[in-house]
Parts: sequence; C-alpha cells; structure tokens
Amino acid sequence: MRSAAAAAGLDGIWQLDLPTNSGVELRSFLVLHGVGGSLTGTIYPNRAASMPVLHPRQEGQETVFAIGWDWTFWVHRSGDHLEVAMRDGFESPKRGVAIQITEADLAPPAPPPVPVLRVLPSNGLAMTPPMGWNSWNHFAERVDDSTVRAAADAIVASGMAAAGYRYVNIDDTWEGGRDPEGRLLPNRKFPDMVALANYLHHKGLKLGIYSSPGFVTCGGYEGSLGHEEQDARTFADWGVDFLKYDWCSAGRVFADEALHPVYQKMGAALQKSGRAIVFSLCEYGVLAPWKWGAQAGGNLWRTTGDIHDNWKSMEEIGFAQSDLAKYAGPGHWNDPDMLEVGNGGMTATEYRTHFSLWCLLAAPLMAGNDIRAMTYETRMILTNREVIALDQDPLGIQGTRCFAKGSVEVWSKRLGGNGQAVGIFNRGDREADWTLQWSQVGLTAPPATVRDLWTHRDLDVVASGLTVTTPSHGVTLLRIN
Ligand code: GLA
Repeated sequence: MRSAAAAAGLDGIWQLDLPTNSGVELRSFLVLHGVGGSLTGTIYPNRAASMPVLHPRQEGQETVFAIGWDWTFWVHRSGDHLEVAMRDGFESPKRGVAIQITEADLAPPAPPPVPVLRVLPSNGLAMTPPMGWNSWNHFAERVDDSTVRAAADAIVASGMAAAGYRYVNIDDTWEGGRDPEGRLLPNRKFPDMVALANYLHHKGLKLGIYSSPGFVTCGGYEGSLGHEEQDARTFADWGVDFLKYDWCSAGRVFADEALHPVYQKMGAALQKSGRAIVFSLCEYGVLAPWKWGAQAGGNLWRTTGDIHDNWKSMEEIGFAQSDLAKYAGPGHWNDPDMLEVGNGGMTATEYRTHFSLWCLLAAPLMAGNDIRAMTYETRMILTNREVIALDQDPLGIQGTRCFAKGSVEVWSKRLGGNGQAVGIFNRGDREADWTLQWSQVGLTAPPATVRDLWTHRDLDVVASGLTVTTPSHGVTLLRIN
C-alpha cells in the first residue's frame, strides 16, 4: 500500500537541474506515471536521450529506479517538488530538487533542414590509425585544463609520444555556453583553449576536442546544432586538430536516416575551416557508419556502444569486429572505442589481449588511463613498439578471424613487406594449448621467421606448425615473415 501511495505521489513531468564542478547546470527531465501502484516512465538524462524507467522498487520512503547508462535514481515527493538523488556511474551521488513542468517544456528543438548528400573529398589525414589519449574513460567530468596539461607531460615523459601517441583529446564536459554572437565558449575548467593548444603543440602533440550534432552532448553540455560552421571555425581558431562528434541528443531531433547528412554537415564545415582536423564520428554503429562515414568526411567511426573497463565488455566488442575489416583503410578507420588499458578493471594479461586485438584491428589507439600514475606494466603494454607497428602498418589492412575452435581464436593481419601478424587468443577460463598449422593463416609453406611480440623473442620455425600455450584470457602474438 505504502509503495502504491509513494508511486502515485511521483506522477508528473519533472525538471531536475543539478550543479557540476564546471559551473554548468545539467538539466534532466523525469516523466513519471505512478498508476496502479507501480512506477513507469521515461527519463531524459541530461536531455540527451530518452530512456524507460527500469526496476522500480521502494526503499523506505524513497522510490528507487534505474535507467540505461547505469544511472540510478532515488526519489520522494516533498510538498510540490521531488527530492532526487542520482548516481551516474562516475561520481558520488548528486542531490537536487525537481520541479513540475509541462509537456511543452520537454520538446527538443525542431529539426533544421539537412544538406543534400554528396561525397566529400578526403582530407588526407589519419593515413595510419590515429594514436593518442582521451580524457573520458578515466576522468569523465573531472577533466580540466591542468589534467590535460599533466597528461601531455606524462605522454612525453613516459615514452608514449616517442612510441607514436600524438592526439591529446578532451572529451565531454569542457563546454560552457555561447557568447552573444553565438560563439561557443569553454566552461571554467578550461580558461584558455588557445594557450592549451599552444602548450600541446610546443610539445609536438595535437589537441582534440568533442562536440555533438545535437543541442546538448551526452553529458548535457552545449552541442553544435545550428552552429556547425561557426563551431568548426572556433575549433580551427583555437588550434584544434581532432574533433569527436557524438550523436547524443541529435537522436531526439533527427530520425536515424539523417545521420549521414548531419555528419556530412560538420565534415564539410571542418574542411572549410582551413585547418587540418581529423573527424571522428561517434554514433555507436547505429546506422552502419562504415558504409558512409568516409563520404561524410570522417576519418574514423565508432562501430559499437561504449566500452567499459571489464573483460566482458572488451571481449564482446573486440572479437565482434572481424566482418567490418573491408571498410578500414588509410584515412578511414573502424573505431571499436578507446582503450581501457591501465584503468584497473582487467588483469595485465587481459589488457595485453585488449591491446593486441585493437592493434590487429588497425583500430585507433586512444589510451584512456591516468598516464601520470600508470604502472610499469601498463607502460610496457602501451609502449610496446613491436605491437604498435602492427596497428600502424602502412598498408592499413584490418585483421580478421581466420579460425575459431572452442575458446581459441586465431586472428591475422596482413602487413607490408609480405609480413603477417598472428594472434592466438584464448577466450576461455583455462590455459589452452594450440598448434598453429601454417595453412590456418593462409601459408602454403612455413615462414622464414616467427617472432613473439610480447616476449620479444624469435621462435624456432617448425615445418609442421607452432605449438603455443596461452593463458586464460591471454594472447600469443606473433609476427611472421
Ligand atoms: C558517449 C560516448 C563516449 C563519451 C560520452 C561523453 O557515451 O560514446 O565515448 O564521449 O558520450 O558524454
């Protein structure tokens, strides 16, 4: 009975504004129906998406429910408002008060006209998969100017810059509002973008930034809708070298069919900006961006939803990429999302598998850890030049699965100079022995040399094949010539 009464009390359309460390207030909407004693409804987290209320239950006077993105809400009615606590998976719970609004307040902006499709010329960038660092996986909304500078210092000091990592990319939550002329502003966490770009450029590094084709980003910050050309010019003026463009609230404005022309609009704006800016499409693989991403001016496109720092997430994403190989090549890459190496949720063996697989996939290598504080082992993974060389091979051919049996998968990637990379992966819970027949990787005769890229040893070549023992969740990674 109590739960029925509590659910009924929540009925309504509510607006929740929460403060953040960036000084920007984030707005979410809660549309709740407490009919028949149980709670249903739709939540618009950060106004960027709409998601159903999941698993409602009563905890004392609080009604608790979840939504996708791993968010949890605790709500109760107090007079004419709702008291809300919300945990979004990154920070400690935020608390606020939700006030009642009308249905009209929920409406997203009307969709502006989209451009006619055309094929944009290649911008000539990213001839090998882009390498760098991105703030999101470790720092999320805690990223600020000093974090980015410290990451850049550490990229140089750790040897990562020397190993090829160049782009230092600020992900979501850097945005402020707009000035009276509509020019996009950073929030108080980033006092001077030009100075930050100069700082990175003087170190031989490049600056990446993030926006959305929608009215807000996934994090609820200002998006580029209706300001595409102006924002591209602003980024160029600041000295930005890379833009990740994340669909987010555009999904509330446009139908999925508009994805291609909407991305094309920013692709064209970047090309017009006069600065060489790598264009990274992030629409989670929704409308097969591998088929049109390059035509829209894209250099890379996410093929999946967000990666998380655990084996299951990494495995589900990484081992599902084989069929997309034909769409990758110099200047245009499949992006199975950023690296989690060093973030703590997997073992070193699993992180070697993650890194090996991403290199076999010719994936962009965007480290997502706290580089200032990484362990020796993490550094040895991220800076293994023999493994990176597979990813950065100039032919730009994405590897594929050649063979799978039980828990073992054999993947290979063709390299320049008649070489080949071979990964023998063990997805199972126990150590596995595997004899690699040369025919399994398309060879008719034994190779001349076989090198183990994690132990850095040349192995004896045996005509009948190579027997290796690979630990649970591990990889044996070879280069054969
Ligand atoms: C989406 C993207 C992530 C990250 C966040 C930021 O979830 O897929 O990579 O950029 O938004 O809000």
